[in-house]
Amino acid sequence: MGMRKQLDNLCSFRLDYRKSFVKSSIAYLILPMSTSTDPNAPTKANPYESELLVNRLMTEGSDKETRHFELSLKASGLENMPGDSLEVLPTNCEKVVSDLLGVVGVTGLETVKVGDENLVLEDALMNRLACTVLSKIQIKKFNEFAQSDHLADLLQIANKDALVDYMWGRELIDLFSEFPQSGISAQDFVGLLRPMPPRLYSIASSLSAHAEEVHLTVAVVRYQGQGKQRKGVCSSYLAERVGQSIPCYVHPNKNFKLPEDSSTPIIMVGPGTGIAPFRAFVEERQAIGATGKNWLFFGDRSEKTDYLYREEWESYKKDGVLNELDLAWSRDQTEKVYVQHKMLEKKQELWSWLNDGSVFYVCGDASRMAKDVDQALRTIAQDEGAMNEEEAAVWVKGLQKERRYLKDVY
Ligand SMILES: Cc1cc2nc3c(=O)[nH]c(=O)nc-3n(C[C@H](O)[C@H](O)[C@H](O)COP(=O)(O)OP(=O)(O)OC[C@H]3O[C@@H](n4cnc5c(N)ncnc54)[C@H](O)[C@@H]3O)c2cc1C
Ligand SMILES: NC(=O)c1ccc[n+]([C@@H]2O[C@H](COP(=O)([O-])OP(=O)(O)OC[C@H]3O[C@@H](n4cnc5c(N)ncnc54)[C@H](OP(=O)(O)O)[C@@H]3O)[C@@H](O)[C@H]2O)c1
Repeated sequence: MGMRKQLDNLCSFRLDYRKSFVKSSIAYLILPMSTSTDPNAPTKANPYESELLVNRLMTEGSDKETRHFELSLKASGLENMPGDSLEVLPTNCEKVVSDLLGVVGVTGLETVKVGDENLVLEDALMNRLACTVLSKIQIKKFNEFAQSDHLADLLQIANKDALVDYMWGRELIDLFSEFPQSGISAQDFVGLLRPMPPRLYSIASSLSAHAEEVHLTVAVVRYQGQGKQRKGVCSSYLAERVGQSIPCYVHPNKNFKLPEDSSTPIIMVGPGTGIAPFRAFVEERQAIGATGKNWLFFGDRSEKTDYLYREEWESYKKDGVLNELDLAWSRDQTEKVYVQHKMLEKKQELWSWLNDGSVFYVCGDASRMAKDVDQALRTIAQDEGAMNEEEAAVWVKGLQKERRYLKDVY
């Protein structure tokens, strides 16, 4: 491939990835809250205060930080099924808040109105309001004060990709640094902020194996933005700042469930943190003595440092709970090796499992991985099912309609 083409591909991939991040930050705003029928079940307004039992780094030596968390559900009444997620309500980082207050030019001691409540600004920023990740609406509101032509230009619909680019790696504090607003009142400043959204994490444990507990697999977001070290609000809250308890509630997902008939074979594709729900699936299938076969595709950067839950998978494989285990290490050699490459290597066997009625699950990154896995499925249908491109697409759609191709991607 020519250098120009490679650059074009890279640029369009980066934009896709950024768009997916922007979309996902919107997604967690509009997802419904707990749909439990129990009227006393914890919700966003009335979360369960869970004790953190375990916070363990799983990727010692890696340049990526993925952690295993165990939270207590004692006396919570919180039910969950494999495939459900946990919604976590984080607090902001004290330093992020104090830096922001300094740049905005307010003390933090001002009283502000948030909804119907009067709060001290600093407390509102710490506990109630989102004050890092930018949104288009927020930039629009900010520009009512800043009156910047540059921002006005970026806010045009035709410039939406440029806006995504602009927002990537920038936080609210950067807007105030670039366009100082000396004299903005504390209340006007609060008017720019939205309520802190909860973050979703796939539950990585089954209650059958860990009664009264919920486990999570979290990649801690850390990156350089505008020359500064930045961190994701909730993943860093879990990693570094949890106090007495973690406010949380269950987010049921009826579209990502184990087959009712436990003799149905399942194929699970979960690279990176996408592994989380499959740990719950396999724990559950073992606990209930499911007779259906289990096949796991997992991938991450390096076998030595990023093999999440290695001992558990190896033990399941040895005991025959996992019939097949295929691993893709993307950075252990010069060429990238991803889960979809492993699927294609095993295409005959995979086709036969699918023809035997397997349910095919994908979890993890939506912007790149899930699309490539979808394409691999189509390729397998073409190669093994003697289909043309269109027929393969129809076949994949059919799998989805039959609810035998289920995704939990973000
Ligand atoms: C159904 C569902 C299940 C999920 N399950 C899991 C799970 O099991 N494990 C898990 O770890 N996550 C999971 N997530 C993602 C999780 O909800 C959070 O989105 C994630 O932890 C980031 O949240 P945060 O608060 O730490 O980061 P935020 O404070 O929300 O920051 C993220 C923002 O930081 C910016 N950013 C991030 N990286 C960069 C970069 N390299 N350069 C520039 N800017 C950047 C982007 O603006 C991005 O939107 C799931 C999401 C969904 C919707
Ligand atoms: N939209 C979102 O909010 C979103 C989605 C996914 C991930 N993330 C962020 O990414 C970080 C890590 O997440 P993660 O552990 O779930 O996953 P990840 O680190 O992004 O990826 C896990 C593995 O998948 C590989 N991979 C990359 N592109 C792929 C593709 N097209 N097909 C198949 N595999 C591919 C990676 O390889 P290489 O890295 O070597 O290429 C790595 O080996 C976190 O900070 C998370 O917040 C955010």
